[in-house]
Amino acid sequence: MKTLAANGANIPALGLGTFRLQSTECTDIVQKALAAGYRHIDTAAFYENEAEIGAALRLTEISRNEIFLTTKVWPSEVSDGLFQRSVEGSLKRLGLDQVDLLLIHWPPKNANVDEWARLLCDTVRRGWTRHIGVSNFTTGQIDSMIEACDYPIAVNQVENHPYIDQSRIRAKCAQHGIAVMGYCPLGRGQELLNDPVIAGLAAKYYRSPAQIILCWHVQHEGAGAIPKTASADRLVENLQVFDFELSTDDMAAMNALTRRHQRLCDYEFSPIWDQP
Ligand SMILES: NC(=O)c1ccc[n+]([C@@H]2O[C@H](COP(=O)([O-])OP(=O)(O)OC[C@H]3O[C@@H](n4cnc5c(N)ncnc54)[C@H](OP(=O)(O)O)[C@@H]3O)[C@@H](O)[C@H]2O)c1
Repeated sequence: MKTLAANGANIPALGLGTFRLQSTECTDIVQKALAAGYRHIDTAAFYENEAEIGAALRLTEISRNEIFLTTKVWPSEVSDGLFQRSVEGSLKRLGLDQVDLLLIHWPPKNANVDEWARLLCDTVRRGWTRHIGVSNFTTGQIDSMIEACDYPIAVNQVENHPYIDQSRIRAKCAQHGIAVMGYCPLGRGQELLNDPVIAGLAAKYYRSPAQIILCWHVQHEGAGAIPKTASADRLVENLQVFDFELSTDDMAAMNALTRRHQRLCDYEFSPIWDQP
């Protein structure tokens, strides 16, 4: 599996997304993912499945130091006291002393970047996380965080798929050695998987549409993806994207789809997004 070197972190380029995986189904699919070769699991306090993921980590024979585990703090908890309680709660539910990556899930509405940076960096000092990062941060917010943080930002986790143009975020992150981890990488399994351009490439490369899309993700320098699936077969399918390459022309054809700029995760609390 390709790994991304990101300011001291070595992150498997493809991980398992776990939003909406709950109860025993979550524990079961995480165990199956680890058995299938996944070494990167993405969760969040918000997903309410950390205990189930912790159970899978205890049941697997894969050693803890081979697994890259990310969790996140929800923006309403980004203040002194609440932040520490959120991280301690995540660690307790996961049954771990330390995660590999801790992210602020969305930029909080208050503009106190120094406070966000202080709280995040303090978790490294306390040994609660090996690396820190952000999610849904704009290019301007990334600049401010870099300036305010004592430790390097390893990741910006953002919505990324062939229907959204994230080239500005990619360029900003590349400039600072930050990995771009794409969420909703399959466009939530909707229209994108049936796109005629992707169907054409699937036929050309003898791969599934999901494999074509995931290959497009990991072929971008410094980029990875965290597809979610509840299916044991799709777990395996989604991981088999490192044994072929899309040609430059085919990458360009998929990059052209980003002109649609169809964002799936956009809420009243979203930041003012970078314009493509
Ligand atoms: N930081 C953030 O703000 C944020 C926001 C959203 C998501 N995330 C993270 O990103 C992860 C992925 O995003 P997502 O779950 O929203 O969307 P996604 O991974 O793009 O799509 C998941 C959907 O695709 C289907 N699917 C998976 N593999 C497939 C395949 N090979 N063929 C056909 N369909 C397939 C799944 O169905 P089945 O389960 O039935 O296979 C599911 O319905 C989340 O789980 C979460 O960890 C982060």
